[in-house]
Amino acid sequence: MQLTPEQKQLGKDNFNEAVGYSRRDWLKGAAAAGTGLGAFYFGYEKLKGERVRVGFIGSGDEGSVLLTQHPPEYMEIVAVADIRPTNLERAKHGDGNEDRVGLIKKLGEKTALTKIKYYSDYRELLARPDIEAVVIATPLISHHTLAIEAMQAGKHVLCEKLMAKTVTDCKSMIKAAKDTGKLLAVGHQRHYSVLYDNAYSIIKMGLLGDIKHIRAQWHRNNSFPGRDSWNKKVDPKDLAALKDKNEYLKGFGFDDVEHLVNWRVYNATGGGLMAELGSHQLDASSIFLGKVKALACSGYGGKNFYGVKGVGSKDKQEDKREIDDHVYVTFEFPGPHYEEDHNDVAIVTYSSLSTNRLEPYGEQVMGSRGTLVVQTEQQALLFKEASPETGGGGVEQRLYVINGNDSGPVLSASASLAPTAGAAAAGATVEKISRGYTEEMEHFCHCIRNNIHAPPKDGGLRCNGTVAMADAIMALTSNLAMKHKKRIVFKPEWFDPENPAAPETDKDVIG
Ligand SMILES: NC(=O)c1ccc[n+]([C@@H]2O[C@H](COP(=O)([O-])OP(=O)(O)OC[C@H]3O[C@@H](n4cnc5c(N)ncnc54)[C@H](O)[C@@H]3O)[C@@H](O)[C@H]2O)c1
Repeated sequence: MQLTPEQKQLGKDNFNEAVGYSRRDWLKGAAAAGTGLGAFYFGYEKLKGERVRVGFIGSGDEGSVLLTQHPPEYMEIVAVADIRPTNLERAKHGDGNEDRVGLIKKLGEKTALTKIKYYSDYRELLARPDIEAVVIATPLISHHTLAIEAMQAGKHVLCEKLMAKTVTDCKSMIKAAKDTGKLLAVGHQRHYSVLYDNAYSIIKMGLLGDIKHIRAQWHRNNSFPGRDSWNKKVDPKDLAALKDKNEYLKGFGFDDVEHLVNWRVYNATGGGLMAELGSHQLDASSIFLGKVKALACSGYGGKNFYGVKGVGSKDKQEDKREIDDHVYVTFEFPGPHYEEDHNDVAIVTYSSLSTNRLEPYGEQVMGSRGTLVVQTEQQALLFKEASPETGGGGVEQRLYVINGNDSGPVLSASASLAPTAGAAAAGATVEKISRGYTEEMEHFCHCIRNNIHAPPKDGGLRCNGTVAMADAIMALTSNLAMKHKKRIVFKPEWFDPENPAAPETDKDVIG
């Protein structure tokens, strides 16, 4: 959605106003919570007792973000393991990006270089009895093996998304958590984003009316030479360090160092655009639609840019990519009255392009009374539909929330009726938002220290194995829908961790 800066500001003010209304009873407390904002929103406390002693496995792009954003009041990082020497160095020194400043800058040279140990072999890290938990930020194909080994070694696990490459693997990870009594969290950070939580609060209040459609996208443009961050040159230092390690790499599913470094573009090691990007936004969509599971999906995917011979840059022609570079998928979700009437369905369309990025990534939730736009996990905008009672709508209108006649709060353009006091407090808290990484690590530590194994609704991990498996099922099944060119109906047993049924082995899917 293309908006002028003025329209964006208006949309943000509208969103803050609505959050100010929906959360007016406790926003004052949230504003006062300061650095503990995540704790305040998600109902956990500052850590009591010793900080959790944590080892990180994988300090590449995402591992470096998590190292930089880890909460030192909750978590004491004591070890980092990575098989690529360049990324072990990156853990210490960062890489010039402000999201990945590295441990020296974050914790000081003394702590980063003397208290934290660095390993090229993660097994040395797992062998340390003093380490209570691990954060795993390695390629998709390795999540299952590393997470299970870590739990069996007595560590709690926070594993990056997508949970695993198959649903069967997700189920064995959940089983390992159960068998070992360890916590298993998965890093879909939107579950810990205050912005998304606030957005959901205004949806729950009914301000958007009936939601029938969410349009989500993550569009990038890699068509210019050198712009494809998923296809990197292998650093000679990594090549030299790993030249005799092909058997070890093969054990994790990487044919060689090239496949380790560029794992995202190969079918054997990654899960394509849906696993890497789409899973986040399907996760968000299922939250917006009331934390429900999808009913069915279909889609088209292709190598529509990299696969076309003789067109484009030299870089492109040398590309070894196997995964699709464009995907367009449709998900059917149940509406609130679906059980009584199967016509009550909401449709989520998702696209990920590699050749155009005019539109920022995000989600647009379209309701019968209003539209919510979330962009780049950083800002949310709210607009109103025109209605006979409360006047015109659109992107130029400043909105307020008023009490409707009989149907609860509604959006209105009339300032005179408005309870505006909460908006400033909402604005203040919304401005301080992180993408959720810090909060997910804080809550992970809180659950470890307080031995909380409860489901999310009772204060347990908000993205535990079962929740994360549902996200993996959506992403992985949409890949199957595109591959087999069919509409796939999700089966309840796929979502049951105790049931071995999985889409990748289901005859109705692959037959
Ligand atoms: N939550 C998010 O927003 C987000 C964003 C980006 C990536 N991710 C996820 O994070 C994970 C990692 O992605 P990335 O971009 O950091 O990839 P990356 O390739 O940049 O980093 C992965 C690192 O893991 C290391 N590694 C692989 N196997 C290992 C092993 N057996 N032992 C030790 N180290 C090993 C690699 O050497 C590399 O340094 C992926 O699952 C990805 O989907 C999540």
